[in-house]
Amino acid sequence: MKILLATKNRGKISEINRIFSDLPVEFVGLDTFEEVPEVIEDGKTFHDNALKKAMTYYNIASIPALAEDSGLEVEALQGAPGIYSARYAGENATDSENNRKLLQALSGLPPEKRRARFVSVLCLILDGKPFFFEGEVRGRILEKPEGESGFGYDPLFVPEGYEHSFGVLGEEIKNRISHRAMALKKLRHFLNDHIK
Ligand code: IMP
Repeated sequence: MKILLATKNRGKISEINRIFSDLPVEFVGLDTFEEVPEVIEDGKTFHDNALKKAMTYYNIASIPALAEDSGLEVEALQGAPGIYSARYAGENATDSENNRKLLQALSGLPPEKRRARFVSVLCLILDGKPFFFEGEVRGRILEKPEGESGFGYDPLFVPEGYEHSFGVLGEEIKNRISHRAMALKKLRHFLNDHIK
Protein backbone atom coordinates (compact mmCIF):
# COMPACT_ATOMS: atom_id res chain seq x y z
CA MET A 1 0.00 0.00 0.00
CA LYS A 2 1.24 3.48 -0.88
CA ILE A 3 0.88 6.21 1.74
CA LEU A 4 1.52 9.87 1.01
CA LEU A 5 3.64 11.45 3.74
CA ALA A 6 2.93 15.17 4.13
CA THR A 7 6.54 16.33 3.86
CA LYS A 8 9.03 17.26 1.15
CA ASN A 9 11.94 16.31 3.38
CA ARG A 10 13.61 13.32 1.70
CA GLY A 11 15.44 12.46 4.91
CA LYS A 12 12.15 12.03 6.76
CA ILE A 13 10.70 9.97 3.90
CA SER A 14 13.58 7.52 3.78
CA GLU A 15 13.67 7.36 7.59
CA ILE A 16 10.01 6.33 7.83
CA ASN A 17 10.47 3.83 4.99
CA ARG A 18 13.35 2.26 6.96
CA ILE A 19 11.25 2.08 10.12
CA PHE A 20 8.40 0.35 8.27
CA SER A 21 10.55 -1.74 5.90
CA ASP A 22 9.13 -5.00 7.30
CA LEU A 23 5.55 -4.03 6.40
CA PRO A 24 4.02 -3.94 2.89
CA VAL A 25 3.79 -0.13 2.85
CA GLU A 26 5.66 2.43 0.82
CA PHE A 27 5.74 6.08 1.90
CA VAL A 28 6.01 8.66 -0.86
CA GLY A 29 6.61 12.34 -0.23
CA LEU A 30 5.10 15.54 -1.52
CA ASP A 31 8.18 15.98 -3.71
CA THR A 32 6.58 13.54 -6.19
CA PHE A 33 3.85 16.13 -6.91
CA GLU A 34 4.41 19.09 -9.23
CA GLU A 35 2.36 21.67 -7.39
CA VAL A 36 1.68 21.32 -3.72
CA PRO A 37 -0.57 23.79 -1.92
CA GLU A 38 0.79 25.13 1.34
CA VAL A 39 -1.37 24.21 4.29
CA ILE A 40 -1.78 27.01 6.84
CA GLU A 41 -1.48 25.50 10.30
CA ASP A 42 -4.20 27.58 11.92
CA GLY A 43 -5.79 24.91 14.08
CA LYS A 44 -6.11 25.24 17.87
CA THR A 45 -4.65 21.80 18.59
CA PHE A 46 -2.02 19.42 17.26
CA HIS A 47 -4.92 17.20 16.17
CA ASP A 48 -6.56 20.03 14.15
CA ASN A 49 -3.33 20.81 12.32
CA ALA A 50 -2.39 17.19 11.59
CA LEU A 51 -5.95 16.53 10.33
CA LYS A 52 -5.94 19.60 8.10
CA LYS A 53 -2.60 18.67 6.52
CA ALA A 54 -3.47 14.98 6.01
CA MET A 55 -6.95 15.70 4.61
CA THR A 56 -5.68 18.37 2.19
CA TYR A 57 -3.13 16.00 0.67
CA TYR A 58 -5.52 13.02 0.71
CA ASN A 59 -7.97 15.06 -1.35
CA ILE A 60 -5.27 15.91 -3.88
CA ALA A 61 -3.59 12.53 -4.15
CA SER A 62 -6.54 10.17 -3.60
CA ILE A 63 -4.29 7.74 -1.75
CA PRO A 64 -3.94 7.26 2.04
CA ALA A 65 -2.17 10.27 3.54
CA LEU A 66 -0.20 10.72 6.78
CA ALA A 67 0.67 14.02 8.46
CA GLU A 68 2.28 14.93 11.78
CA ASP A 69 2.01 17.93 14.03
CA SER A 70 4.32 18.15 17.01
CA GLY A 71 5.67 20.52 19.59
CA LEU A 72 6.87 21.19 23.10
CA GLU A 73 4.55 21.91 26.04
CA VAL A 74 6.04 23.51 29.15
CA GLU A 75 4.09 23.16 32.40
CA ALA A 76 5.16 26.50 33.92
CA LEU A 77 4.05 28.24 30.69
CA GLN A 78 0.59 26.62 30.71
CA GLY A 79 1.48 24.43 27.72
CA ALA A 80 3.30 27.05 25.62
CA PRO A 81 4.88 27.06 23.10
CA GLY A 82 2.66 24.09 22.10
CA ILE A 83 1.31 24.37 18.56
CA TYR A 84 3.44 27.50 18.12
CA SER A 85 6.71 25.67 18.87
CA ALA A 86 8.25 26.23 15.42
CA ARG A 87 7.46 29.97 15.47
CA TYR A 88 7.68 30.72 19.21
CA ALA A 89 10.11 33.62 18.74
CA GLY A 90 8.45 34.86 15.52
CA GLU A 91 7.25 33.73 12.10
CA ASN A 92 10.65 32.73 10.65
CA ALA A 93 12.44 32.16 13.93
CA THR A 94 15.49 29.89 14.01
CA ASP A 95 15.87 27.05 16.50
CA SER A 96 18.36 29.07 18.56
CA GLU A 97 16.03 32.09 18.69
CA ASN A 98 13.22 29.84 19.91
CA ASN A 99 15.53 28.24 22.47
CA ARG A 100 16.67 31.63 23.72
CA LYS A 101 13.11 32.83 24.15
CA LEU A 102 12.22 29.68 26.08
CA LEU A 103 15.20 30.11 28.42
CA GLN A 104 14.18 33.71 29.08
CA ALA A 105 10.60 32.68 29.84
CA LEU A 106 11.85 30.12 32.39
CA SER A 107 14.67 32.22 33.78
CA GLY A 108 15.19 31.75 37.53
CA LEU A 109 12.93 28.69 37.81
CA PRO A 110 14.45 25.68 39.63
CA PRO A 111 14.62 22.22 37.92
CA GLU A 112 11.35 21.00 39.53
CA LYS A 113 9.47 23.90 37.92
CA ARG A 114 10.91 23.24 34.46
CA ARG A 115 8.80 20.20 33.58
CA ALA A 116 7.86 19.81 29.92
CA ARG A 117 6.79 17.25 27.35
CA PHE A 118 7.19 16.75 23.63
CA VAL A 119 3.99 15.76 21.84
CA SER A 120 3.54 14.17 18.42
CA VAL A 121 0.16 13.66 16.77
CA LEU A 122 -0.03 11.64 13.57
CA CYS A 123 -3.15 11.67 11.44
CA LEU A 124 -3.70 8.98 8.82
CA ILE A 125 -6.53 9.36 6.33
CA LEU A 126 -7.66 6.00 5.06
CA ASP A 127 -10.74 5.70 2.82
CA GLY A 128 -11.59 9.30 3.72
CA LYS A 129 -11.60 8.64 7.48
CA PRO A 130 -9.07 10.07 9.97
CA PHE A 131 -7.16 7.90 12.46
CA PHE A 132 -5.00 9.56 15.13
CA PHE A 133 -1.88 8.25 16.89
CA GLU A 134 -0.44 10.24 19.78
CA GLY A 135 2.94 10.02 21.45
CA GLU A 136 4.64 11.95 24.25
CA VAL A 137 7.93 12.04 26.12
CA ARG A 138 8.13 13.77 29.47
CA GLY A 139 11.16 15.59 30.78
CA ARG A 140 12.54 18.96 31.82
CA ILE A 141 14.13 22.05 30.31
CA LEU A 142 17.79 22.77 31.08
CA GLU A 143 19.14 26.21 32.00
CA LYS A 144 21.41 26.28 28.96
CA PRO A 145 21.63 24.23 25.77
CA GLU A 146 23.93 21.19 25.55
CA GLY A 147 24.87 18.95 22.60
CA GLU A 148 24.57 19.28 18.86
CA SER A 149 22.40 16.31 17.92
CA GLY A 150 18.81 16.61 16.71
CA PHE A 151 16.94 19.84 16.02
CA GLY A 152 14.52 22.32 17.57
CA TYR A 153 14.46 22.21 21.37
CA ASP A 154 16.55 19.00 21.60
CA PRO A 155 19.61 20.71 23.23
CA LEU A 156 17.36 21.97 26.06
CA PHE A 157 15.22 18.89 26.72
CA VAL A 158 16.27 16.18 29.17
CA PRO A 159 13.93 13.17 29.00
CA GLU A 160 12.82 11.55 32.28
CA GLY A 161 15.26 8.92 33.50
CA TYR A 162 18.25 10.56 31.77
CA GLU A 163 20.87 13.11 32.84
CA HIS A 164 21.49 14.77 29.48
CA SER A 165 19.54 16.47 26.72
CA PHE A 166 18.49 14.87 23.44
CA GLY A 167 21.24 17.04 21.95
CA VAL A 168 23.78 14.91 23.83
CA LEU A 169 21.93 11.57 23.93
CA GLY A 170 21.81 11.37 20.14
CA GLU A 171 19.64 9.79 17.45
CA GLU A 172 19.66 6.20 18.62
CA ILE A 173 18.26 6.89 22.09
CA LYS A 174 15.92 9.59 20.80
CA ASN A 175 14.49 7.27 18.13
CA ARG A 176 13.69 4.75 20.85
CA ILE A 177 11.98 6.97 23.43
CA SER A 178 10.77 10.11 21.66
CA HIS A 179 7.20 11.36 21.26
CA ARG A 180 7.50 10.58 17.53
CA ALA A 181 8.77 7.06 18.20
CA MET A 182 5.75 6.43 20.48
CA ALA A 183 3.24 7.72 17.92
CA LEU A 184 4.90 5.71 15.13
CA LYS A 185 4.72 2.59 17.28
CA LYS A 186 0.94 3.00 17.52
CA LEU A 187 0.74 3.59 13.76
CA ARG A 188 2.74 0.41 13.22
CA HIS A 189 0.23 -1.65 15.25
CA PHE A 190 -2.63 -0.12 13.30
CA LEU A 191 -1.04 -0.78 9.89
CA ASN A 192 -0.17 -4.31 10.94
CA ASP A 193 -3.84 -4.99 11.64
CA HIS A 194 -5.32 -3.04 8.71
CA ILE A 195 -3.25 -3.74 5.64
CA LYS A 196 -2.87 -6.86 3.60
P1 IMP B 1 5.73 21.18 13.18
O1 IMP B 1 6.67 21.05 12.02
O2 IMP B 1 4.60 22.11 12.99
O3 IMP B 1 5.29 19.83 13.70
O4 IMP B 1 6.58 21.92 14.32
C1 IMP B 1 7.28 21.21 15.23
C2 IMP B 1 8.15 22.14 16.07
O5 IMP B 1 8.13 21.64 17.40
C3 IMP B 1 9.59 22.09 15.60
O6 IMP B 1 9.92 23.13 14.74
C4 IMP B 1 10.36 22.14 16.90
O7 IMP B 1 10.51 23.48 17.29
C5 IMP B 1 9.44 21.45 17.90
N1 IMP B 1 9.72 20.00 17.93
C6 IMP B 1 8.88 19.01 17.56
N2 IMP B 1 9.46 17.80 17.69
C7 IMP B 1 10.70 18.06 18.17
C8 IMP B 1 11.80 17.21 18.49
O8 IMP B 1 11.78 15.98 18.33
N3 IMP B 1 12.90 17.84 18.96
C9 IMP B 1 12.98 19.17 19.12
N4 IMP B 1 12.01 20.01 18.80
C10 IMP B 1 10.85 19.46 18.33
